[in-house]
Amino acid sequence: MCGIIGYVGGGEAAPVMIEALRRLEYRGYDSAGAAVIDGGHIKLAKTSGFVAELDKKIQGGAKLSGKIGIGHTRWATHGAPTDNYAHPHLSAAGNIAIVHNGIIDNYARLRERLIAEGCVFLSETDTEVAANLIARLYAKCGDIKQAVAQAAEQMEGAFALGILCEDYPETLVALKKESPLVIGVGDGCAYIASDVVAFLNETREIYRFEDGEIAVITRDDIKFYSPELRELTKRTERVDWDVSAAEKGGYEHFMFKEMLEQPEAVRATLSPRISNGRVALDIELPPEYLRGISRIYFVGCGSAHYVCVVAKYNMEKLARVPSEAVLASEFRYSSPILDETTLVVCVSQSGTTADTIAALREARRLGARVLSIVNVVGSVIAQESDYVLYTRAGPEIAVATTKAYSAQLAVTYLLTLHIADARGTISQTEYEKLLRELSALPNKIEQCLELRDDVRRLAELYSDRENIFFIGRNIDYAMSLEGALKLKEISYIHAEAYAGGELKHGTMALIQDDTLVITMATYGALAGKIVSNAEETRARGASILIITTKSVADTVRHISDNTLTIPDTHELLLPSLAVIPLQLFAYYAALVRDCSIDKPRNLAKSSTVE
Ligand code: G6P
Repeated sequence: MCGIIGYVGGGEAAPVMIEALRRLEYRGYDSAGAAVIDGGHIKLAKTSGFVAELDKKIQGGAKLSGKIGIGHTRWATHGAPTDNYAHPHLSAAGNIAIVHNGIIDNYARLRERLIAEGCVFLSETDTEVAANLIARLYAKCGDIKQAVAQAAEQMEGAFALGILCEDYPETLVALKKESPLVIGVGDGCAYIASDVVAFLNETREIYRFEDGEIAVITRDDIKFYSPELRELTKRTERVDWDVSAAEKGGYEHFMFKEMLEQPEAVRATLSPRISNGRVALDIELPPEYLRGISRIYFVGCGSAHYVCVVAKYNMEKLARVPSEAVLASEFRYSSPILDETTLVVCVSQSGTTADTIAALREARRLGARVLSIVNVVGSVIAQESDYVLYTRAGPEIAVATTKAYSAQLAVTYLLTLHIADARGTISQTEYEKLLRELSALPNKIEQCLELRDDVRRLAELYSDRENIFFIGRNIDYAMSLEGALKLKEISYIHAEAYAGGELKHGTMALIQDDTLVITMATYGALAGKIVSNAEETRARGASILIITTKSVADTVRHISDNTLTIPDTHELLLPSLAVIPLQLFAYYAALVRDCSIDKPRNLAKSSTVE
């Protein structure tokens, strides 16, 4: 999704902005641009395509000299990903430039009004409407801060803006409403960005910028204002994320590096929450409240939704609470039946996914409590939830999630165990066994990562397939869903996941000679069933690749062309191990097919529009 950077300081702005935009590339984008003020005039450069092209266009900054600037990577929502539609956008008189993330819902109405007042537009974008609205208000009041505050009052939706005005050649203005924006403080310079990763190489001192606030920033002074322009007092915070964690660390792809970081991400998420042989969550969930829960909805998008599917199976099995996994984009349109005894668990890496935010707000509006599982500290979802359990995966850059997914799974195990314990649905022996296995999980994930050469060989063998099917039952079905999603999103091979028992109701018609059926057979209780389903596809010519555990392997190997064997663990935790060969398979298939692994076509890391 769109990335914003702004810089004001003693050095040249363009090279700083290009570097920051590169760090924001992971958000997914299709055009890029930057503006500076030089000699009292705004200068602009923008291009469709990648930041590297923008860099070439401005000759590394030589053609865009200035000590204050705003830059942007755009993921098209209104209008095509062309040079013209790239940000920054200028007001009609060219005296104001803005970069924008989010959507101004009422832009069409504002646009009509501005046209009636004589304003001429060059694009269909909501951003150009914001630029002209601010310019118009500025022309009337002569004060940029006031003009921005008045514009904020008139604009509806979720947006973050970085603004330059020619009459203020040393001042950057920022506005935030429900879209991410953070402010960094350097030595004689300051930054605005949609993600701290953008300037983490320059400074770790940040100001959190809250919804509705306006910031007026010069190289040595930052002032914050409420929507009514009351000056606010704020303190800086120090970000302790490791810079190298946000960089590739010598690997060819972020995705590969992040896959290898999974044991650590899971360890960091679990270990502070296991103490003296008990789950010790860092939130207060009174046992009487947990005993009174009548239903749990697990809500998320993409891979986060598939974490929800695992959580639903596990919660029902262990804690005996009726549970549903619902796609966040469907949740609020499905007339959910919620009250104070319903717990809604929102799962999100970024904490900014629009559909998940909408589901959260609907859940709270209807009186349910919301617990979120989030990776990005202080994100919208974290801020608006009743309880937050953070995953400790660190920054995840590759669009296709791996380590955040694994850390999310880990939190769902802790939560399930905690609720089962409070409701008395688990014996002491079982509780201890599960905790032991949880503590062993990071090392077992490590062992699964050691399968990578075998997985690579198989991915190379099957990478020319046009269609690949994934089948499984129960939690193995949940893993099939994630395996198919990973494969299609980065290798562009068409992949589908089916609950094994469903094949005979239609999909079997697609099985022919050499169709690859990846069969998830880690869940011992249903191994016999999934073997029968796989056999049915084999009888119709399919090749079978089985992913199984050490203890189940002997009962399933006879029907497979190839087998990948993961270690045994408690049945609830199997997804954390089973997902590793699936991620590796997708990665290596994408590698052979020469795909853009970290930034797959048409996809974005964080979906801030519905
Ligand atoms: C995008 C990402 C997925 C992610 C989904 C939900 O589609 O590519 O990897 O699972 O968004 O994102 P969230 O930040 O809410 O977990």
